[in-house]
Amino acid sequence: MNSIILTGASRGLGHELHKLLVLDDLPLGQRVFISRRPLAETHVNHRYIQADLGRKDGLNTSLDIAPDSKVVVFINNAGTIEPIGKAVDMPTLNIENALRVNCLGPLSLAQQLAVETREIGARLFILNVSSGAARRPIKGWMAYCVSKAAAVMAFDVLAAENDHVEVQHFDPGVMDTDMQNHIRQQTADVMPDVELFRGFKTDQALKSPREVAEEIVSIVRDVIR
Ligand SMILES: NC(=O)c1ccc[n+]([C@@H]2O[C@H](COP(=O)([O-])OP(=O)(O)OC[C@H]3O[C@@H](n4cnc5c(N)ncnc54)[C@H](OP(=O)(O)O)[C@@H]3O)[C@@H](O)[C@H]2O)c1
Repeated sequence: MNSIILTGASRGLGHELHKLLVLDDLPLGQRVFISRRPLAETHVNHRYIQADLGRKDGLNTSLDIAPDSKVVVFINNAGTIEPIGKAVDMPTLNIENALRVNCLGPLSLAQQLAVETREIGARLFILNVSSGAARRPIKGWMAYCVSKAAAVMAFDVLAAENDHVEVQHFDPGVMDTDMQNHIRQQTADVMPDVELFRGFKTDQALKSPREVAEEIVSIVRDVIR
């Protein structure tokens, strides 16, 4: 049996992933979906956990993966682009929530999974939904760039220390989701390159979250084969 855990199943890419991962054509047993809000559609055979990854006191959520799991896949998808603002004006405290949601919350889930998989002799595959912003600075995105870059390094160190843990960083490209909608609504004052992002929409250059979800499911299929 194989298990899968997905965060951010409520909207955007995560919503499309949820729709694909509940289908029976994947050799998956346990499927765990984590979302901050309850999902509109749930499936009786799968587990749904409500958790805010930004909680200051941690998640306090036990994942209890199935003890006969051979491969456990963790898709770190939930993410926030907030707060957007100029670096010089941004109180460092305001970066904390982005760090918790984009890095520390997922890291604590991955740590828990690394321990549980080691105990049962399973492999842990972390698919980290990353971003170009983890590698290059984007004006106005201090919190997002810092937290996405931190997540890459956090998972890389976890994998370097644990032979049974593997990580793949996946950059989905620009997708037509609420996150991009929110980006387009910024002013050039806080986000000087906002016109570029508006252009992605008018030029129909945004990927559909469905096609990206299909790409991710195909990676998962190869890992659990
Ligand atoms: N969209 C793009 O162009 C783009 C480009 C590169 C990378 N990415 C990455 O792709 C991933 C998915 O992005 P998306 O475009 O699908 O974003 P989205 O439409 O804004 O959806 C974000 C998801 O993350 C969840 N989330 C946000 N804050 C949370 C919190 N505190 N605790 C738990 N869940 C939380 C949201 O849950 P709620 O419904 O409860 O808010 C939602 O399910 C993210 O990691 C993002 O960084 C996106």
